[in-house]
Amino acid sequence: MSFRVAVVGATGAVGREILKTLYERNFPIAEVAALASGRSAGAQVSFGEDKVLTVKNLEKFDFTGWDIALFSPGASVSAIHAPRAAAAGCVVIDNTSQFRMDADVPLVVPEVNPQALAGFRERNIIANPNCSTIQMVVALKPLHDKFKVKRVVVATYQSVSGAGKEGMDELLANTKVHYVHDKNPPQVFQKDIAFNVIPQIDIFMEDGATKEEWKMAVETKKILDPAIQVIATCVRVPVFIGHAEAVHVEFEHPVSVNEARTALRHAPGVVVDDKRVDGGYTTPIEAQGEDAVFVSRIRKDPTVPNGLAFWCVSDNLRKGAALNAVQIAEYLVAHDMLARKIEHAA
Ligand SMILES: NC(=O)c1ccc[n+]([C@@H]2O[C@H](COP(=O)([O-])OP(=O)(O)OC[C@H]3O[C@@H](n4cnc5c(N)ncnc54)[C@H](OP(=O)(O)O)[C@@H]3O)[C@@H](O)[C@H]2O)c1
Repeated sequence: MSFRVAVVGATGAVGREILKTLYERNFPIAEVAALASGRSAGAQVSFGEDKVLTVKNLEKFDFTGWDIALFSPGASVSAIHAPRAAAAGCVVIDNTSQFRMDADVPLVVPEVNPQALAGFRERNIIANPNCSTIQMVVALKPLHDKFKVKRVVVATYQSVSGAGKEGMDELLANTKVHYVHDKNPPQVFQKDIAFNVIPQIDIFMEDGATKEEWKMAVETKKILDPAIQVIATCVRVPVFIGHAEAVHVEFEHPVSVNEARTALRHAPGVVVDDKRVDGGYTTPIEAQGEDAVFVSRIRKDPTVPNGLAFWCVSDNLRKGAALNAVQIAEYLVAHDMLARKIEHAA
């Protein structure tokens, strides 16, 4: 059995990673379509070692007969075209924030809450959580199962690729001009991102939090447990790929460092890298291109009852976006959840 798969936003940072991930993981593909805006229609993107796909215009694309569409064209574009694809019978896995908090759209991290997929037929749309939420809930899940998470205080260190290809271009351009004692006015970010850190990701909300910080709180509740309280400070750092997080957790039940480490070691998708020597932890550069969520610096937080602190790092384009979306698609295939299955010639 193989499937017709459309990748929407195929010229972007996430879309290209989706194509790479589908190929690397040998997803059962009968046909793959690369879609983007009219601006890049006719351009070419790679699929695997030697295949090149010609980009098609999303506006003109008919999803009838396509089995799965992996969307990452930005929320406003998904708002229009994801329901159109879903209505044509194509299962949409959407990376944008557009549908995440809709009650009838599952918000899924396969290692954490695959059971939520049961309801996806309501809308034929499945949402991929925010990149910062994904890596945090993968690490929290085994700890929540054993010790029950009550409250999380998290500070993020998020790479510029979280803002797409334009974010990466701006870091490169602004870094270069620093060396000639010049400055580029920021366009993607709110301040100069070169040699700087910026405590704002997404827009401000009424209570003074940013939307990224709000997303981490509400998405964690939806995925893991509505009783969990989360306060986040989300910070953009001059790193190309890989988000890091300093996570401080208060549990209902007592927890020792060794118990936490054991639970994390056995958790799917987690690699514990915690040597307590110089360099004995993972940084974003080492996580780049990797599938895992790396957990380091595990220690007691003695300032609260049942407190634990850790550092976690993951590739935001892979587990934070493309890989998670492809894992959802793999889950649907493995559990025979794609209603309209067609025998396609491979
Ligand atoms: N980057 C991350 O770490 C990450 C993680 C999770 C979720 N996301 C979400 O994924 C989405 C894309 O992120 P990205 O980082 O890949 O951004 P990006 O690098 O800027 O890519 C955007 C993609 O969307 C396409 N697009 C833009 N407007 C379109 C339109 N009107 N019709 C069709 N396609 C259109 C672009 O095509 P053109 O080449 O034609 O402009 C491009 O392929 C965003 O919603 C983002 O929030 C990103």
